[in-house]
Amino acid sequence: MNLKGKHYITTQDWNDDELQFLMETAHELKQQFKNDEPHLHLPHKTLFMMFFEQSTRTRNSMEAGMTQLGGHAHFLSPDKLQLDHGETVLDTGRVLARYGHGIAIRNCDWGQGNKFMRAIAEISNVPLINLQCDLYHPCQAAADLMTIQEEFNGEVKGRKIAVSWTYAPSYVRPISVPHSEILMMSRAGMEVVLAHPPEFKLNPDILAQTKANAEKSGGSFEIVDNMDAAFEGAHVVYPKSWGCLIHEPDREAAVSHIEKYPDWICDERRMALASPEAIYMHPLPATRGQEVTDAVIDGPQSRVWDQAENRLHTGKAIMSLTM
Ligand code: CP
Repeated sequence: MNLKGKHYITTQDWNDDELQFLMETAHELKQQFKNDEPHLHLPHKTLFMMFFEQSTRTRNSMEAGMTQLGGHAHFLSPDKLQLDHGETVLDTGRVLARYGHGIAIRNCDWGQGNKFMRAIAEISNVPLINLQCDLYHPCQAAADLMTIQEEFNGEVKGRKIAVSWTYAPSYVRPISVPHSEILMMSRAGMEVVLAHPPEFKLNPDILAQTKANAEKSGGSFEIVDNMDAAFEGAHVVYPKSWGCLIHEPDREAAVSHIEKYPDWICDERRMALASPEAIYMHPLPATRGQEVTDAVIDGPQSRVWDQAENRLHTGKAIMSLTM
């Protein structure tokens, strides 16, 4: 399978065979990393990474990943480019594409981030990797599927995942993680249950894609307004906060909606509602004491550090295959 030059903007752009190949490559790269075997798939290649927001996992996993593959990743932010002086995004993309072998972007600006990426992808002759936009976080979804596959020895189909909104009023988080999560896990044939208070609806088009994915894969998709109901019997719980950007795009006004639901927290009582073999997942950073208790995130069911580690292996797989 040749994926060289293919953009990775949403998992929906890749067919089932391509996603399976991506996961197989990530598992293989993880083994090579653990065995300290060389895997220099991208010698002397360059990835340009444009970050419009902060990052711990995404930046460092991709940067370390490129080094381990024999290449180099440049970290760029708007103040390090001429964007701040008015050079257009497209002109910036045209220039960077001439210098390297891939462009990766994080831009979560609501209503703009995905458009920005698609515009650069349109004019770029090198692959574009989405490091999170306003709609999708496909790199996170790949790492999460890998973590679930590892936990259940590849037997993912038919397992229940509860993707739930949580309380965290300190700032309005993007809705890209729950979007990519429900899209990816419905592709994998999981029983996906999405839970949120009424103001925190997801994008209707993405909900429709998730429903179609579930019908095709033999999984299922349900939306509830109750965190306890979502957790009942779940094999994977994925509680995280997101903003009510569809209901209220104004970020200051949106905080007042978050403040209404302080009881939407993942605690030991809720974990007990899930299957005894359930795992707790979160893409991080998690807000302790609001989204999740210390007892859960530091407890035996937590897999957050495996998830974070798998960002490295899946990120390397995406770069190796597309670049
Ligand atoms: N999960 C994730 O994308 O983390 P960062 O925001 O730290 O990159």
